[in-house]
Amino acid sequence: MSDWYRDFANSSFGTTVTKQLGLPRPAVLRRYEPGQPLLPGPAVVGSAGDGRLRDTVSALLRDAGVHVQSPATADGATDGEKPAAVILDATGLRTPGDLVSAHDFLAPAIKRLRASGRVLILADPPGEADSPAQAAARQALDGLVRSIAKELRAGSTANLIYVPAGAEGSIASPVTFFLSGRSAYVDGQVMSVSAAELPAAEDDEQPLAGKVAVVTGAARGIGAAIAAVMARDGAHVVAVDISAAGDRLAEVANEIGGTALQLDITADDAPQRLIEHLRERHGGVDIVVHNAGITRDKLLVNMDAARWNSVMAVNLQAQLDITQALLDADGVLRDHARVVCVSSQSGIAGNRGQTNYAASKAGVIGMVRAWAPRFAERRATINAVAPGFIVTEMTARMPFGTREVGSRINSLQQGGLPVDVAETIAWLSQPGSAGVNGQTVRVCGQSMLGA
Ligand SMILES: NC(=O)c1ccc[n+]([C@@H]2O[C@H](COP(=O)([O-])OP(=O)(O)OC[C@H]3O[C@@H](n4cnc5c(N)ncnc54)[C@H](O)[C@@H]3O)[C@@H](O)[C@H]2O)c1
Repeated sequence: MSDWYRDFANSSFGTTVTKQLGLPRPAVLRRYEPGQPLLPGPAVVGSAGDGRLRDTVSALLRDAGVHVQSPATADGATDGEKPAAVILDATGLRTPGDLVSAHDFLAPAIKRLRASGRVLILADPPGEADSPAQAAARQALDGLVRSIAKELRAGSTANLIYVPAGAEGSIASPVTFFLSGRSAYVDGQVMSVSAAELPAAEDDEQPLAGKVAVVTGAARGIGAAIAAVMARDGAHVVAVDISAAGDRLAEVANEIGGTALQLDITADDAPQRLIEHLRERHGGVDIVVHNAGITRDKLLVNMDAARWNSVMAVNLQAQLDITQALLDADGVLRDHARVVCVSSQSGIAGNRGQTNYAASKAGVIGMVRAWAPRFAERRATINAVAPGFIVTEMTARMPFGTREVGSRINSLQQGGLPVDVAETIAWLSQPGSAGVNGQTVRVCGQSMLGA
């Protein structure tokens, strides 16, 4: 399922045509490959005021083998190669007047950013400001980063992480994710970390080594990609899907050396059967990915109860029931467990003909937010990902015009791949992501819908 337009726009003839006609020029994104360096070039790190994170971030980058450049001066003079990442520590901001220092650092540095570059801003949360002026300055960064993401081209992204006082120890995993190729389709996002107890350092190449991961809806599409990425990162995957998808499920499980479990997640005994399987075969579970989902589209006025109920049952109620049963079952959900729930952009923006689907997917966002404190007590986390337009067999069957419009109305001017959703889920599942809890991370290339 290649992107014919992106391939054309990147050919020598296509480059000329798209330039002359002012057409979008979607870039080939930098995606993660095992063994790849964190960044393909140096990073420039600056701060607005007396930031408290600059030294931590610089040390983290050096540990990852990245050359850290000193900030470019306003006239553009620099110490060498074009940066692959521009990182601003904005924790020193006190008033809106201080924002000019963010501008003074970012403008010349971003001018030199190479293709598939990364802009990352770290700041204190507006909700913890000492004064309205300080809250305004911190919140201003939200608009700033979203606009930078819209201005960047050539596959570059910009994101913002709010880091409250005391949560400094939690930043390594999200900073690494946003700089790496794993976040290729995560753009224009604002997220928060919290203080958390971090488990011992993990193996960079196999951060999920020794973990048991359940992935529902794993027979095809995004679920099959999640299973593959989890296995690549070292997990033993229990791939779950309905019996009608049994053959494809077995293929997926065989390819990744995992286990297939045929289970309709909406069946009354599904939570119990899953728990028994995990207890008997694996002695417990570390990661649960609630990916299975269905659509039954109709305008609300034409929607019968069957369509409404089936979508709610698969997309929301099964996630609630299985998670609750896992929390209640003694010793099955292990310490430092990670639950990741698949939501959707429709759950944020709404979508014509999808009242049932959008309601179920918005419900998932509320569910993870509400459960996060309970998970934190167990040193576990629960988060959601909200994919935007992802190129799958389903989208390949859309009419040409609908598909082209749907896939281009985002800052990266292309649809995401199942692997982009999978990489984000695998990152949230890492032991080091302990400080990311109750969040919904959009994997949508900064879609214009519900932004
Ligand atoms: N494709 C996209 O663009 C997109 C965008 C946003 C969100 N999502 C979400 O991502 C997830 C995966 O989507 P996809 O495009 O890969 O879908 P898909 O239809 O290709 O795969 C879904 C899988 O879930 C399984 N499933 C359905 N009902 C089940 C049940 N009761 N028990 C067990 N398994 C069941 C199906 O058999 C199928 O293998 C879904 O939650 C979907 O809502 C997809």
